[in-house]
Amino acid sequence: MKFFVDSADVAEIKSLAGTGLMDGVTTNPSLIAKSGRKMSEVIAEICALTEGPVSAEVTAADLDTMLREGRYLRDIAPNVAVKVPLTEAGLRACKALSDEGTMVNVTLCFSAPQALLAAKAGAAFISPFIGRLDDIGEDGIQLIADVVTIYSNYNFRTEVLAASIRHPVHVLQCAKIGAHVATMPPAVIKALVKHPLTDRGLEQFTADWAKTGQSIL
Ligand code: E4P
Repeated sequence: MKFFVDSADVAEIKSLAGTGLMDGVTTNPSLIAKSGRKMSEVIAEICALTEGPVSAEVTAADLDTMLREGRYLRDIAPNVAVKVPLTEAGLRACKALSDEGTMVNVTLCFSAPQALLAAKAGAAFISPFIGRLDDIGEDGIQLIADVVTIYSNYNFRTEVLAASIRHPVHVLQCAKIGAHVATMPPAVIKALVKHPLTDRGLEQFTADWAKTGQSIL
């Protein structure tokens, strides 16, 4: 299972580079807005920190502008994945950009039939949003499970990129279901490391070792 970092904070992303825990990065217009920086500069800097796909999202709603934005973004670096929304124009943009050899991530997916359309349009990634479905009393994980099953039934090459992940249990559930990728904020990656029994065990080992007066080296 690949881990993507869901952030547009270059310093935060840099701190995870080289750990083996970051296989790519996803951004969205809200994350770029939060960074307070120009999108093209942020994306270029992030692309230099990972060889994996870096999602950069178009902001237009109409097909022509989406295509122009998508081509501009993909020219920033070879590892840019152009992110388009799951609208009719977005699916048309997905097909056109994919036919040109560009990686496309179709985002804002909230149903399995939507995900089926994205695969047929040649998406490299589909991003079903778990947390936002959970927020309105629907089952985000069930959506991931349905999309994994449907793609597997028809051998679609589109990867299921579980998005809107809020906590470690989402990551566990996605891994059990077989989602190809989970994108998560750095705080969730850090939370995955922690376990109170690890801390307690380490304290005990350290205390017992100190009593021996030994040093390994
Ligand atoms: C990633 O590609 C998505 O934009 C992101 O995971 C959305 O997360 P949120 O629902 O927590 O904003």
